[in-house]
Amino acid sequence: MRILIVGNGGREHALLWKLRRDAPDADIFATRPNGGMAPHSRAVPIVPTDVEALSGWAASQRIDLTVVGPEGPLAAGIVDRFRAKGLPIFGPTREAARIESSKAFAKDLMRNAGVPTAEHRTFRDLPGAEAYLREHGAPVVVKASGLAAGKGAVVCATVEEAVDAARSMLGDLAFGEAGREVVVEDFMEGEELSMFAVSDGTLPLLLLPSQDHKRVGEGDVGPNTGGMGAYAPVSIVTPALLHEARTRVFEPTLRALTADGCTFQGLLYAGLMSTKEGLKVVEFNCRFGDPETQAVLPLMESSLLELLATVAEGGSLRGRTARWRAGAAVTTVMASAGYPGPYEKGKEIHIPGGLESDGVAVFHAGTTLEEGERLVTSGGRVLAVTALGADVEEAAKRSREAASAVTFEGAFFRRDIAWRELARAPGSANA
Ligand code: GLY
Repeated sequence: MRILIVGNGGREHALLWKLRRDAPDADIFATRPNGGMAPHSRAVPIVPTDVEALSGWAASQRIDLTVVGPEGPLAAGIVDRFRAKGLPIFGPTREAARIESSKAFAKDLMRNAGVPTAEHRTFRDLPGAEAYLREHGAPVVVKASGLAAGKGAVVCATVEEAVDAARSMLGDLAFGEAGREVVVEDFMEGEELSMFAVSDGTLPLLLLPSQDHKRVGEGDVGPNTGGMGAYAPVSIVTPALLHEARTRVFEPTLRALTADGCTFQGLLYAGLMSTKEGLKVVEFNCRFGDPETQAVLPLMESSLLELLATVAEGGSLRGRTARWRAGAAVTTVMASAGYPGPYEKGKEIHIPGGLESDGVAVFHAGTTLEEGERLVTSGGRVLAVTALGADVEEAAKRSREAASAVTFEGAFFRRDIAWRELARAPGSANA
């Protein structure tokens, strides 16, 4: 089997790691692979958003399955191009990807389908947004409607903060075209959860729930990042909560997308808030989450490849299930000094031999293998260390210890990944 992975971050390394386990003999290609992916894949020197070049390359190479990591190529219509050439690809079409690429579209769809989410209003003009904010009051969340690399949502405690956020988006175009339309929504209180569902267009096959850590500092303080760690599963997600997510969030959303003429086949990721009134959707994404994928996939015992290939071929997931290892996974992200602000690149990375045996995996993100042998940093989030354990305490301890053994100049990581779950664990003072 010939598989193409589009993307080269930590999520894509985790996808490669899992697909390699599911199909040890497959030929796996990756677009511009990072330093951890390079030894385990064949490099394709095409950028993910060049969907014309990639589809031509995949056709010439007779690729059997393409798996798309990031949202950019999905929003650019990679699936439409591949399908037009008869190439099986896992991911939603450009129209269906609007569930992530247009927050305004997603909010309207949810409102019309009765999917629980915060009240919202959409604006394309600053005076309208400002008048609404002054009348409505705070706290509110101001979001750029388009794709903004995870940085387009601003939680505002005061009206002035909210007006400033709207001005920077609509007036100063701080997020470019992504901020020409702005969604203002009510602030929700509760605990955030990430839930992934592999969807054949009708059925959502839910994967293990997880939680990520977006702030740079321990105790969830400081600026937002692309994610400093994750863990799975999350014990507050009871079978009843899973049922609620399936029947009140995923199924009606998939039905609404089909009714809108854009059936969603791919990975639907719901960012959920567990509130006093039940689950509410914070946002949808049209792809696997990062770094949650690095925690979820190492726990998956059954084949991911079978599910992705079935959907890519237009098949049904009816009767399919996923099987999971017992225990927990904790993923600790290691970042470059200065991240999420400016940082230096090119620092040599040392990963002790043998670190990756026995329930520990290192997923690279911003790394490059220079001349095939010298591993150096090339991004803010450099790599993630996932450890498995019989429970979350063991997994967290092993993940921290393994991250401590990886060195590069200026490296830092959070030592409190999974703190909410640890506080709930039996024996904890807060449990
Ligand atoms: N973990 C957040 C994201 O993938 O968007």
